[in-house]
Amino acid sequence: MNKKEELQILKDKMEADDSLPLRKGDTNLVFGVGDPEAKILFIGEGPGYWENLKMEPFVGNAGKFLDQLLKSIGMPRESVYITNVVHHRPPENRDPLPEEMLAYGKYLDKIINVINPEVVVTLGRFSMGKFLPTAKISTTHGKLFRVNWNGKDLFVIPMYHPAASLRNGEVMRQEKEDFLRLPDALKKISEKKKKKVPETEQMSLV
Ligand code: URA
Repeated sequence: MNKKEELQILKDKMEADDSLPLRKGDTNLVFGVGDPEAKILFIGEGPGYWENLKMEPFVGNAGKFLDQLLKSIGMPRESVYITNVVHHRPPENRDPLPEEMLAYGKYLDKIINVINPEVVVTLGRFSMGKFLPTAKISTTHGKLFRVNWNGKDLFVIPMYHPAASLRNGEVMRQEKEDFLRLPDALKKISEKKKKKVPETEQMSLV
């Protein structure tokens, strides 16, 4: 089975899962979009109004800015994979609750395992918290971390949420800079991957 087929099976399972806490009458599943073979997996927070309507992550204003950031490094949206920590729109776009992130998390974990990206780029504090629970976005954004996540050797770069950039010019400036460093981070990762991780290097900044 290829990755596209594996993702479709997961999506079908989610569609059928009545236990998902944010699933309400007219709320659509917003599973993920992009290339299943992508090297970079972006994880945002949760769908908003437009995402729910179009059943695709990051298609509103924050999504337009994300597209612009991707374009700045010559990576069209179709060349990466994009998903969220919760896959149904929270009411009034409120923050996802811990129990909601836990419920959707079991699917997100599977998405991560299927895509098996070179690097996970977290957008905002909720997805960052999944991998770097004690990190502070203001000091860690744009930095490359190597973590042992569920026994998996994973590279993670926390980034500001694009919506935060739209609200604050300085955050936007920093996020643009962080994105411009992504291609170099990918090169650094391929080098690092050739070396086995010593125990002490787990959860380290690289
Ligand atoms: N914000 C997110 O975190 N995810 C989306 O899909 C859209 C906006």
